[in-house]
Amino acid sequence: MPIKLMKDCDLAGKTVVIRQDLNVPMKDGAITNDKRIRAAAPTIIQALDKGAGVIVLSHLGRPTEGQYEEAFSLKPVAERLSTLLKRPVALVKTLEEAKAAPGECVLLENIRFCKGEKKNDPDLAQRLADLGDVYVMDAFGAAHRAHSSTEGAIRKAKVACAGPLMAAELDAFAKVLDAPARPLAAVIGGSKVSTKLGLLENLLAKVDILIIGGGIANTFLAAAGHAVGTSLQEADLIPEARKIMDEAKRLNKSLPLPLDVVVAKELAPGQHPTICGIDAVPADAMILDIGPKTVALYTDLLNTAKTVVWNGPVGAFETDPFGAGTKALAQALAASKAFVVVGGGDSVAAVEGYGLADAMGYISTGGGASLELLEGKVLPSVAALEARG
Ligand code: 3PG
Repeated sequence: MPIKLMKDCDLAGKTVVIRQDLNVPMKDGAITNDKRIRAAAPTIIQALDKGAGVIVLSHLGRPTEGQYEEAFSLKPVAERLSTLLKRPVALVKTLEEAKAAPGECVLLENIRFCKGEKKNDPDLAQRLADLGDVYVMDAFGAAHRAHSSTEGAIRKAKVACAGPLMAAELDAFAKVLDAPARPLAAVIGGSKVSTKLGLLENLLAKVDILIIGGGIANTFLAAAGHAVGTSLQEADLIPEARKIMDEAKRLNKSLPLPLDVVVAKELAPGQHPTICGIDAVPADAMILDIGPKTVALYTDLLNTAKTVVWNGPVGAFETDPFGAGTKALAQALAASKAFVVVGGGDSVAAVEGYGLADAMGYISTGGGASLELLEGKVLPSVAALEARG
């Protein structure tokens, strides 16, 4: 269903409330990755350039509602925004103080300090919607939450629309899920099948090629009858893995499993990695990465794809020397002509760490939200935006 877009709204002289996801990682009060703030800033600039006064809302972390806690303050975010926007961004603590004249931008303190936010309290939603003339939902990363500042306020606002970041995210995932150029491949990694089961089931019906890596692959390898030594695996999900493999066969989909793997006695830096065939994993070793034959197999398959979605690394990439498989796939995807969407914190971190983000088709800012989209769920804030069409 069509969604109203911020770019089509008249914002001149209006107060615009923009819900963004500025939930960035912090260490000792300092931002460690400002990607979400950099992705959000152009939306604010567009609204300011159109002559609006802008009130920005965001959550940060998971504080106790109704209680101010310095560790969850958006103060460092206000400072970073101010640098990016090249103008002061005042951090205001209460809804009453949240006012912005045309050309001004203010940031409201962590919306999760407000009682009722997470319960989607309708009164809070109304008060947030009433802060401005237009309510812009641009927080893709929080679109799977039906909270007062997301789904609630969208439904209550006089005018509600999607911001450019939100629209770009939905467009990118639509290119994968709704009308992909085929063949469509998905690379699904990560540690646990349990966190990706819904996603695997949903994607299997849509993709032509389903590549599995990381700890997830271990459970599939075990289901296929391979010994996986001391590898992380979920024995209780072996029947589910078998079901997915049987279904892939029935649907004639390609679901390759690793041919060779990198193993070590433990997951620790500086280990002596050994490459072994998939039927030669030692009983006292664990699988920590895919091996070179598997990299070649996966790369060849990915080179046939016209659309690729990648969620989750294929090995323990953060620990040297178990990142080679993830790096090789990232390089192959960066060089490929396919439209590649990367979603999920770890795969995005990997791609960024290798300096390959600019070579991908789209890097999502959503963690849980992108997972839910890939699981085939309707995000509550998207449903609300559609209802406001
Ligand atoms: C995220 O980081 O995935 C979003 O900001 C949502 O945060 P939450 O899981 O605390 O709702």
